[in-house]
Amino acid sequence: MSSKIPVGILGATGVVGQRFIQMLERHPWFEVAWLAASDRSEGKSYAEAARWRLKTPIPTAVAAMRVSPAIPDGAPRVIFAALDAGIAAELEPRFAHAGCAVVSNSSALRMQQDVPLVIPEVNADHIKLIDGQTWRKQSGGYVITNPNCSAIGLVLALAPLERRFGLETVMAVTMQAVSGAGYPGVASLDILGNVIPYIAKEEEKMEEETRKLLGQMNGTKVVPATFAMSAQCNRVAVEDGHTESVSVRLNRKAKPEEMIAAWNSFRAEPQELELPSAPKDPVVYFGAPDRPQPRFDIDLGAGMTTSVGRLRPCGVLDWKFTVLSHNTIRGAAGAAVLNAELLKAKGYLG
Ligand SMILES: NC(=O)c1ccc[n+]([C@@H]2O[C@H](COP(=O)([O-])OP(=O)(O)OC[C@H]3O[C@@H](n4cnc5c(N)ncnc54)[C@H](OP(=O)(O)O)[C@@H]3O)[C@@H](O)[C@H]2O)c1
Repeated sequence: MSSKIPVGILGATGVVGQRFIQMLERHPWFEVAWLAASDRSEGKSYAEAARWRLKTPIPTAVAAMRVSPAIPDGAPRVIFAALDAGIAAELEPRFAHAGCAVVSNSSALRMQQDVPLVIPEVNADHIKLIDGQTWRKQSGGYVITNPNCSAIGLVLALAPLERRFGLETVMAVTMQAVSGAGYPGVASLDILGNVIPYIAKEEEKMEEETRKLLGQMNGTKVVPATFAMSAQCNRVAVEDGHTESVSVRLNRKAKPEEMIAAWNSFRAEPQELELPSAPKDPVVYFGAPDRPQPRFDIDLGAGMTTSVGRLRPCGVLDWKFTVLSHNTIRGAAGAAVLNAELLKAKGYLG
């Protein structure tokens, strides 16, 4: 019998669900034991139900698994959730109430005061919020979330600066890949040869999530960071990888070489604990003037490293630079798997 922890995937057939299956195929601690999606998929084999869109084949054992109904009966105690926010708001609490550890990708509960929103390299201490959740007290279940796919790259680039120099103002303009909209996502006739300057609720999520992630634990609450923040979000015809043009004003003066050193030397608990999905380098600065680019740099650190480049003075704020992060790996499935690894390392998976 396997000694790995059995895990389930809610929303297993979607863009993020597929990444979970790919990332968990050879995971040293977790093993996919249960899959669920909508009524459309229920009862079918996974190979029949999912329109598999990744370059690696569906793992054989998973291809033959039946898609279960999305109810807690018969589900394992650890659930990775990749549901649309509307249905997540209904189902995630149901699974937590039934005693499951719900490791969620969705925005439904991210900003709830007792739900941790975590990037393990940035705010691992926020997982303590779990202890205050009613589900935890009643059934042992709980919900932990990872941020929106564009907030995560931004925050990984900001955290090393925030620690060394403090942040006063942040402005970010995104160029977001089509895979960020799920499958089938944006119609090809809408996006080919085009830029769509609107992604529903994305700017609000980036602004509020960034402040919660860089906020401080105070007793049983997170006090959000107070820097001024403005985000503008665009959808572009790129398959995977969100690129962001960022300008910052810092609290203390910084030289460019100090900022680059802050990024390149950034390490945190996941690296110290050697969590299986933690990249050796969470952030890497590119010296070349035309990098990072999604086509060449998105798979750095197996998709878990955030790339930064083009650091230069800003005529309005202090500095401007470019950030690139893989939206379905670091921005979704990989973020949740790393959160689950942190939970295990901290004794939250029983
Ligand atoms: N794509 C990204 O880059 C990204 C990044 C970060 C976060 N997220 C978030 O992750 C979540 C999933 O995104 P996605 O891109 O994977 O979406 P998606 O491709 O549209 O997949 C949605 C999944 O939810 C399932 N589902 C739909 N209605 C359901 C219901 N009533 N009951 C149970 N399952 C249901 C679908 O199953 P069927 O196949 O059976 O319909 C499918 O498995 C969203 O909240 C999204 O905002 C996505």
